[in-house]
Amino acid sequence: MKGIILAGGMATRLRPLTLVTNKHLLPIYNKPMIFFALEAMRKAGIREVLLTSSADHSGHFANLLKGGEEFGLRLYFAIQENPKGGIAEAISLAEEFAGNGSVLVILGDNIFSHDLKKTVESFRKTESGAVVFGVHRNTDSRQYGVIEIDTTGKVLSIEEKPEHPKSDIAQTGIYMYDRNVFSHIRTLKPSSRGELEVTDLNNIYLKLGKLRCEIIDWWVDAGTSYDELLAANIHVSELVHRGKL
Ligand code: G1P
Repeated sequence: MKGIILAGGMATRLRPLTLVTNKHLLPIYNKPMIFFALEAMRKAGIREVLLTSSADHSGHFANLLKGGEEFGLRLYFAIQENPKGGIAEAISLAEEFAGNGSVLVILGDNIFSHDLKKTVESFRKTESGAVVFGVHRNTDSRQYGVIEIDTTGKVLSIEEKPEHPKSDIAQTGIYMYDRNVFSHIRTLKPSSRGELEVTDLNNIYLKLGKLRCEIIDWWVDAGTSYDELLAANIHVSELVHRGKL
């Protein structure tokens, strides 16, 4: 299984912080944001990672991360030419890199401490279907994909930024896909915001009866707003002070 970290996008929600740099290079307490996804990959047992970003910013990542040695990873870079192409389009850049194997995808602005190793190991045994990771949120699930599950944990629906969320479970930016992901992406049509949506991709697996959901305890999408960026900083500082990170 190979890793894909998405670090492109326009980051308009964080302007002016992101006018001259990429949001994934902003600090989360004591580290650049992108370090968290890289460390999660290594902890999960992934060794080869493709980082996608824009042409403007890929040099910044190369300067900071080099070949990934410091993280115990081998790092590759890909350019997403259309920053508004969407998550699924960015994943499609990894088709050759994935070499007919499965992939772990992490959005570079997602901060979490959940260890993905067990799920990666069990996924590797079958290499079939997809896994999404959800988190219970007290508020604001309307700005995320929302996952509805039944009492046995079976996924009933996933809706992208719904007006009336069917549950309090936000879809995080952590996904595992089997080798069919690239052919599924080819069937997607742009959404009303003009993107190839990861939620539409996940719904393909759901319809095929091949989607699982795991609930994780703590997660922040630090790219959503100044408040979420601040929340990620505060939470990470607390974990560091308590010796948990
Ligand atoms: C994207 C996904 C959404 C998911 C979120 C997690 O939203 O479309 O389903 O909940 O990432 O970070 P976006 O950041 O593109 O608005």
